[in-house]
Amino acid sequence: MKVAILTGGGDCPGLNAVIRAVVRRGEQHGLEFTGVRDGWRGLLANDHFRLTRDAVSGILHLGGTILGTSRTNPFKSEGGPERVLETLERNHLQAVVAIGGEDTLGVAKKFFDMGVKVVGCPKTIDNDLSGTDYTFGFDTAVTIATEAIDRLHTTAEAHSRVIVCEVMGRHAGHIALHSGMAGGADVILIPERPIDLDEVAAHVLARQARGRRFSIVVVAEGAQIQRGKDEVQDRELDQFGHVRLGGIANVLAAEIEKRTGIETRTTVLGHIQRGGSPTARDRVLGTRYGVFAADLVRDRRFGQMAALRGDAIVGVSLEEATRDLHLVDPALYDVAAVFFG
Ligand code: F6P
Repeated sequence: MKVAILTGGGDCPGLNAVIRAVVRRGEQHGLEFTGVRDGWRGLLANDHFRLTRDAVSGILHLGGTILGTSRTNPFKSEGGPERVLETLERNHLQAVVAIGGEDTLGVAKKFFDMGVKVVGCPKTIDNDLSGTDYTFGFDTAVTIATEAIDRLHTTAEAHSRVIVCEVMGRHAGHIALHSGMAGGADVILIPERPIDLDEVAAHVLARQARGRRFSIVVVAEGAQIQRGKDEVQDRELDQFGHVRLGGIANVLAAEIEKRTGIETRTTVLGHIQRGGSPTARDRVLGTRYGVFAADLVRDRRFGQMAALRGDAIVGVSLEEATRDLHLVDPALYDVAAVFFG
């Protein structure tokens, strides 16, 4: 069987570990692989190349993706789905392994409903995909953000400043919560809970009153400020409809400075969180997902995604994986809040 592999959406440390594992395991099952360039764009444009065991050698530790990626959605272009089906048919590609987050796997689900044999692998540093406890890439992003927060502590303390550190997380605050807890942040702000500026200022001032003249505030890019009783300040979006990096951090820093009188600085970690080598944990998780995805193809369990449940890798339906977002557990946020202020 000839199988296409693609990586879609924002890149994520561990993608190459998954690609390597799918090909290595799949070849043991007698499968043959084609690497699709730049996610669904490559299937629209008939842009792909033969992927062998040799081609995936030496990539386990590398960030990015040897296949390239894009946010192309064939269902958003005229005749797009038909062109994808034509590419699959013309090249005798009988199945697709789609490695991606909610957008990429949402497209995979639509093709599955149209009769394409698809399996999925859960990717996103944001960890907001449902059906799985963790996505690969999340651990690396949290590790990078935690190291940054450690560094911000020393400079914030030296200058008696508040530093607002913005991390990624469009819809969910997993990175903010985990890195903020690990880095001992004084306030953590996430999209799941609108920001109460008075409360944030009160935490900072309470610290000052105890002689702690600096504070670290970690905020997820998708967090919103509560303006009225039922009204939150709109997120700043770019022309692609994505949250503008630094938008919330800058507004927040200005408000904190105004309310506390303490000099405030902003650090936006941005794509640093997505770059570079995956952690050991993400390499292992990516490898487990890849091996399982190849087994799903062998067993003809199409329409499924490899998922982590507890310590086991299991198959869940693409339907379940893309139905809702996986948001922060309120109980974990409450544990973090014990240390605010
Ligand atoms: O989906 C992961 C993510 O890192 C989001 O947190 C962020 O909003 C987005 O990607 C940024 O993507 P891009 O690289 O397209 O700007």
